[in-house]
Amino acid sequence: MAEAMKGLHRSHRCAEPGTGDIGTCVTLMGWVQKQRNKGGIIFVDLRDRSGIMQVIFEESDCGSENFAKAEKLRSEYVIAVTGTVEKRAGAVNPQLATGEIEIRARQLRILSEAQTPPFPVEADSKTREELRLQYRYLDLRRPDLQRNIILRSSIAANIRKFMTQEGFLEIETPILGKSTPEGARDYLVPSRVHPGSFYGLPQSPQLFKQLLMCSGFDRYFQIAKCFRDEDLRADRQPEFTQLDMELSFVDVDDVIDVNERLLQFVCREAIGLEVQLPIPRMTWKEAMERFGSDKPDTRFGMELVNVSDVVSGCGFGVFTSALEAGGSVRGINAKGQAGMPRKKIDALVDFAKGYGAKGLAYLSIQEDGSFKSSFAKFMTQEQLEALTAAMDGEPGDLLLFAADKNSIVYSVLGALRLEVGEQMGLIDHDAFHFLWITEFPLFEWSEEENRFVAVHHPFTMMMDEDLQYLDSDPGRVRAKAYDIVLNGVELGGGSVRIYQDDIQEKMFSILGFTKEEAHNRFGFLLDAFRYGVPPHAGLAYGLDRLVMLLVKADSIREVMAFPKVKDASCLLTGAPDTVDTVQLRELHLAAENAAQD
Ligand code: AMO
Ligand code: AMP
Repeated sequence: MAEAMKGLHRSHRCAEPGTGDIGTCVTLMGWVQKQRNKGGIIFVDLRDRSGIMQVIFEESDCGSENFAKAEKLRSEYVIAVTGTVEKRAGAVNPQLATGEIEIRARQLRILSEAQTPPFPVEADSKTREELRLQYRYLDLRRPDLQRNIILRSSIAANIRKFMTQEGFLEIETPILGKSTPEGARDYLVPSRVHPGSFYGLPQSPQLFKQLLMCSGFDRYFQIAKCFRDEDLRADRQPEFTQLDMELSFVDVDDVIDVNERLLQFVCREAIGLEVQLPIPRMTWKEAMERFGSDKPDTRFGMELVNVSDVVSGCGFGVFTSALEAGGSVRGINAKGQAGMPRKKIDALVDFAKGYGAKGLAYLSIQEDGSFKSSFAKFMTQEQLEALTAAMDGEPGDLLLFAADKNSIVYSVLGALRLEVGEQMGLIDHDAFHFLWITEFPLFEWSEEENRFVAVHHPFTMMMDEDLQYLDSDPGRVRAKAYDIVLNGVELGGGSVRIYQDDIQEKMFSILGFTKEEAHNRFGFLLDAFRYGVPPHAGLAYGLDRLVMLLVKADSIREVMAFPKVKDASCLLTGAPDTVDTVQLRELHLAAENAAQD
């Protein structure tokens, strides 16, 4: 039976004693990683969040009763050990921080016993993720997840330290709010008191932080839970955490300045990374043209080349018809890949099709200067040479081309560049490339909804010099919006806000809201702007993404204690779940698949 804590006091975490403590008596508590019984001597690896310590039990030191208990120990038992720190008698273990010492046990107390866990608690688990998430509390004992969660805590602490020093106030905003869907779908919470009414969970604290600026708080930040009912990916969860901020009396450069210093401070404190300032900036247009992406991974080259001019008038119908339809032909040069087997090229064609391409044209330049290509027969030697020259092509290179409307060409080649770059081993996984993307378009046309939608959100200010096109040509208006990108991942984004109620109303009307709809949804913000509002701007980071990149994890699930899976369910608790009809009735709801009482 498990014994209680009475009279016991932990003196150190397991990995805290060092060679300086040799000869002293310590009391450690933790989980049994492993017990090895070598006859008269028992070795136990004792683990807690600090690491592992080797403990030795010998009957002559700890007495027969304690030794008998030590014989019973199995993995994941929770124990308390009191003993003396000694220099290791056996081989020093350089893998362990505590590899030069061990504890000679005098006393042992079993605090709790453990069943055999469904998978071993060890670094680099090979267990499938579903099982790990079902037993997340065991999974979280693994040293790699422990390290991620501990680092996340320290990143949050350093963020608070920096923001507070810079005069930001930490202010909480409501979780139960008004549904204002724009972008993702809202999660809704039914009201008991107001039949038929719902709260919306915040997709971000956007409106409240702008109201806080109206109230004069000047500089706000919050580490805020956000909720978005959207399709999940490796870097997307239905609930996630933002480092959210808003500043008054500022323009783009002020926001960028404080955020660069924040990133520098946090990266230095968290992982000893020295971020060079200023962080490079690139306009959205340049990013699309060079990388086919608004979040370019600049750790490697292989930039897109526009060859529309070179191929115009050539005999290859795929190219010329794309140009005639107002599109473009662009390519990337996979250096030294001319020998790529046909099968692999076909896989790239399929990959491109997954991004909306109708096909992928290729030209491989042989060592003797001749071409192997899916379209060479449609071109003259002269045209092929001009195309090769435009692509900087040399013998041994493989050129890949997409022809379509610009948006498709960008998304296809942007993705292909990453895929081929990864396959070719061009990406330095130890490098950290930060980049600001600026001058986003304010609107993009949604074919689906047959209207303009806001690229960032409807509260984003246009660039001063583009204000004149707001009525005549909204599609060409650029926004005072910026994203911070790290290694090809959108880490955060923000904008200077509209603070004039007439411009805000115009914005809503371009987005297709009637005056009435705009007032129903956002009237409180428009009203607030009528009582004295400072110019303001802000930004929000995906905190999960920041931690993911700093610990070099593949998914934000690896840096969240209790993440959800692809269908937004929690494998540990079983959420979401049905509720009983009494609960539903109180909320004035009837579920199509109501639970049986
Ligand atoms: P935005 O919608 O760009 O801006 O979100 C800011 C950052 O939040 C992170 N993020 C996510 N992380 C994990 N899972 C998700 N589902 C998810 N969605 C977004 C991204 C993103 O860059 N209110 C504005 C900010 C502002 O204008 O100040 C906003 O929410 O890293
Ligand atoms: P097709 O004439 O459709 O057989 O295509 C000839 C070659 O052009 C094949 O290699 C196709 O993959 C490629 N191709 C077809 N459509 C496109 C496109 N939109 N962009 C680039 N290459 C294409």
